[in-house]
Amino acid sequence: MKTITKMLAAAGLAMMAFAAPAWASGAERHNADDYAFSFEGPFGKYDRAQLRRGWQIFKEVCSGCHSLKYIRFRNLTEPGGPEFTKDQVKAMIKEGEYMVDAGYNEDGEPVQRLARLSDAIPGPYKSEEQAKAANNNAIPPDLSLIVKAREGWDYPWYVSPFIKLVKGPGGAEYVRSLISGYEEPQGEEREGLNYNPYFPGHWTAMPPPLSGEDVEYADGTKPTLKQEATDIAAFLTWASQPKLEERKRVGLMAMIYLAVFALMMYMVKRALWSGVKH
Ligand code: HEC
Repeated sequence: MKTITKMLAAAGLAMMAFAAPAWASGAERHNADDYAFSFEGPFGKYDRAQLRRGWQIFKEVCSGCHSLKYIRFRNLTEPGGPEFTKDQVKAMIKEGEYMVDAGYNEDGEPVQRLARLSDAIPGPYKSEEQAKAANNNAIPPDLSLIVKAREGWDYPWYVSPFIKLVKGPGGAEYVRSLISGYEEPQGEEREGLNYNPYFPGHWTAMPPPLSGEDVEYADGTKPTLKQEATDIAAFLTWASQPKLEERKRVGLMAMIYLAVFALMMYMVKRALWSGVKH
């Protein structure tokens, strides 16, 4: 390389290392308390009973304002998730009277039918305007991907801020902290807003959705506020990463395969070079 090219390359590298532009976003920190969820780490799995409790919270509380549009009823029966039976989900659909649009009748009026397993979970509002009108001009976001959208990234000093490698506080921990972290505001009051130190900016249009004892868990778990917040955070993590367990399993197999392959290649190399003097 010519000296000038070398200098330019060095300058470029130095800029990359020291001046991380906003779009590089190596660190996206959320204010969240640490919690050891069962699905963390390379071998982590969802706790089935917890996912079922989380679904119960969503169904009985959050679905009053939030949709979960990327989840279909049948997903609740699939392996790696809450793993309800099909009959259980069909019963829930009947009991919850989940209706979906089914075109128009001969008088031109819209008709609805009971949801099927293949239908997406219907949301509470027909339009953004309706959602806004019901929530003091704020739109409750769809919760299917919220855990991914609020993932926190961190980087230790030896990794470039360009590389998203290390999970920082955020994601499920953020949802858990947010839901159970409302506080009485000190002095100041804001019309239609609620004080929550975990929410960016600290004032959110979402009123505290849970206060403990909001549901009666079928499995007998005590529904404290922290427990409920942990369960809904786990459920929403599954909703945004329904294939997490399969992904980890395949990743592990690939690592084992590569390790065995590397060992074999080393032995081949030894055998091939054994007759060569050096
Ligand atoms: C009374 C309606 C209502 C209920 C019930 C409700 N929410 Fe919300 N939620 C909102 C609104 C409105 C917003 C938007 C807040 C804002 O932008 O200030 C919101 C925002 C959120 C956010 C996004 C916060 C962020 O970082 O942007 C999450 C996560 C959330 N809600 C989770 C839940 C969960 C979990 C439940 C059930 C336990 C729930 N919500 C129940 C109205 C509701």
